[in-house]
Amino acid sequence: MTTLTDLAGYLASESADEAVKEVVVVIAQACARISRVVASGAILGNLGAAGQVNVQDEEQKKLDLITNDILSEALQGCPAVAGLASEELEAIETTGRQGGFLVTFDPLDGSSNIDVNVSVGTIFSILPAPDGQIPTEADFLLPGRRQVAAGYAVYGPQTMLVLTLSGGVVAFTLDADGAWLLTHPNLAIAADTAEFAINMSNQRHWAEPVRRYIDGCLRGKDGPRGKNFNMRWVASMVADVHRILMRGGVFLYPWDAREPDRAGKLRLLYEANPMALIVERAGGKATDGQTAILDLQPVKLHQRAPVVLGSANEVDQVVAATAA
Ligand code: AHG
Ligand code: MN
Ligand code: MN
Repeated sequence: MTTLTDLAGYLASESADEAVKEVVVVIAQACARISRVVASGAILGNLGAAGQVNVQDEEQKKLDLITNDILSEALQGCPAVAGLASEELEAIETTGRQGGFLVTFDPLDGSSNIDVNVSVGTIFSILPAPDGQIPTEADFLLPGRRQVAAGYAVYGPQTMLVLTLSGGVVAFTLDADGAWLLTHPNLAIAADTAEFAINMSNQRHWAEPVRRYIDGCLRGKDGPRGKNFNMRWVASMVADVHRILMRGGVFLYPWDAREPDRAGKLRLLYEANPMALIVERAGGKATDGQTAILDLQPVKLHQRAPVVLGSANEVDQVVAATAA
């Protein structure tokens, strides 16, 4: 068996700022802990609802709170972090330090899948913190292109950590001793695909261009696309994006008419932006239908955005349908 490089070995070969690497190590350690807590499930009595809602008015699971605490505490203790923001925290938290980095995160993505033992994950984004001052919420409102690193952990049949620092996209697999081993040194998303991911139960609420695009896929070989499509929807963004990194595909969570004033379901700062950075660095595309996700200017912490991401040529097909 060949010896695989571990996370420390990989980071030593990376040109990124040493302080960013420290933040990555702290997050990776927290994700390894979260993996154990998630894997223990009912044994530790951690399944089920927490009995309260978050700032998005979504019911929180016990594991949403536990994982949020694990990450928040880890980042509070990391000297390179000045502030953090989470899906599960209404306001930002500061650490009392200045400079360094801000971290936004979704501590447990795919909460509806926890109790049924389907893959869930953790998503994170690292942004530069302002120098010489304690950060405020406004300092978090940076376009996704300003991210200095992004990644996610997926707790599936294997626990994996997908990361982009200064260059491409790499993935580590957690071994039985708790070490992150570099198993995927260069991830690239195939430009073409015949697989789409969308929650079809919302079809009647979609805008016309999304209907037209999906209808074209569903008509298969006999339709305008001239090929048959397959469909997958895990309902954990992390798992759907991970599949796309591994074998191509397109993921859509568009605006829909259920709540017309809401831009979409997914949150820009800790879901769409980190995933968009990973997807672009792997050669794919990520858009809200008009604008690259990474160019959107955030105006509030928990803001949402429509998301279309994945194989470049297929994202172009969606954008063309939107423009038609
Ligand atoms: P979260 O569990 O962090 O709130 O995120 C769930 C998100 C995302 O992971 C997934 O793609 C989407 O919600 C699924 O939504 P539907 O249940 O509407 O399909
Ligand atoms: Mn999520
Ligand atoms: Mn979540």
